Amino acid sequence: MYPTTLLHSIRRLYTLDPFKEDLGVLENTSILVRGDRVCWIGPDTEAPEAEKVVDARGLIGLPGLVDPHTHAVWAGSRAKEFARRLAGEKYADILEAGGGILSTVAATRKASLHALECGVVSRLEQMHRYGVTTVEVKSGYGLNPATEHRMLTAASSINTGPSTVRTFLGAHTIPAEHRGSRDDYVRQIIEEQLPLCAPLCKFVDVYCDRGAFTLDESIAILKAGKEHGLQIRAHAEQVTHTGIAEAAANLGATAIDHLEQIDDAGIAAMAKAGSVAVLLPGAQLYLQDTPPPVEAMREAGIPFAVGTDLNPGSSPVHDIWTAATLACITQGLTMEEALLGITRNAAKALGLKRAGWIGLNSHADIALFAPPVGEPATFESLIQHMGRPQAVHVIQHGKIIH
Ligand code: NIG
Ligand code: FE
Repeated sequence: MYPTTLLHSIRRLYTLDPFKEDLGVLENTSILVRGDRVCWIGPDTEAPEAEKVVDARGLIGLPGLVDPHTHAVWAGSRAKEFARRLAGEKYADILEAGGGILSTVAATRKASLHALECGVVSRLEQMHRYGVTTVEVKSGYGLNPATEHRMLTAASSINTGPSTVRTFLGAHTIPAEHRGSRDDYVRQIIEEQLPLCAPLCKFVDVYCDRGAFTLDESIAILKAGKEHGLQIRAHAEQVTHTGIAEAAANLGATAIDHLEQIDDAGIAAMAKAGSVAVLLPGAQLYLQDTPPPVEAMREAGIPFAVGTDLNPGSSPVHDIWTAATLACITQGLTMEEALLGITRNAAKALGLKRAGWIGLNSHADIALFAPPVGEPATFESLIQHMGRPQAVHVIQHGKIIH
């Protein structure tokens, strides 16, 4: 028999149950967890006995949060590049001149598997404190078969932090040694990197932009990933408009990310394909980009997810709550959309059916938060107070993490 845990007397629980119209709000509620699943939800007064009991009085209950877009494996520092950008240099110009992503590639290639593991484990363990139980992690700072594989191995070996969903991003930019032979690099991605890395991944991704991959190159790489059984996503329309959002949606992309420069054709194609728009307000803020056309996407019925885009360059943002608050302030999401964006819709962006909501038979991934001092126990007070929410308790796959 699996062990049972009772989360007793949650002041206000947001189940985000997809079968409910609203956010699935329940007051003074208890949850019984058996093994790694939720097996009972009901009023405190009817709570069954359990082997372990977590006192949740006064707390806000949410499904374990999901960060749908990170580059959490890297070595080196880009703090000096930040100073150059503050002094007026553009992100895409620094990349074209061999810095930016390429400087992280140089440091990551030199790092051992152990060094990469130590880095990603401590970044992800910190995410646990914010209540995150699932994180997408990309490769993309190796840009050769051995280092791309080493990054993904580091992300696969984590057993203390949130669960990871891995994405192959060998097409992050053209490495220095292939600047004069782009076709050879695209061939290496398709013929060498993908066969080696696909078994460790669920998604294939490309960065289609100035200084990175062209539309045709990106389409060829996404199609090759699909042939390896990977689901499609893309860094799309971030700095310049390329048409990749429309093309990726037409290939059946599960999620399409960034989207600051998306046009009407891209929006229509995403709506038709049912692709989730992953908004990354940290990168928008750090690069001082214009916001994506949220209102037009909303009208088209595209679901929004929100990610940190945690990386050492364009978005050194570790905290998903900060991303949610910024998505409201700088991109125009409602607080309800932001909450769905870091839970149910973020899980949808990762193709996960049992995460991002709480209900009978959902994953027992649950985070409990105290409201900021003097605030009511509502999700709005967690989103309004930027960067403040740290989870009091985190339950992942039925285990009490803290
Ligand atoms: O999501 N735009 C491309 N890729 C990353 C940036 C990674 C980096 O700057 O190191 C992004 O913003
Ligand atoms: Fe990214």
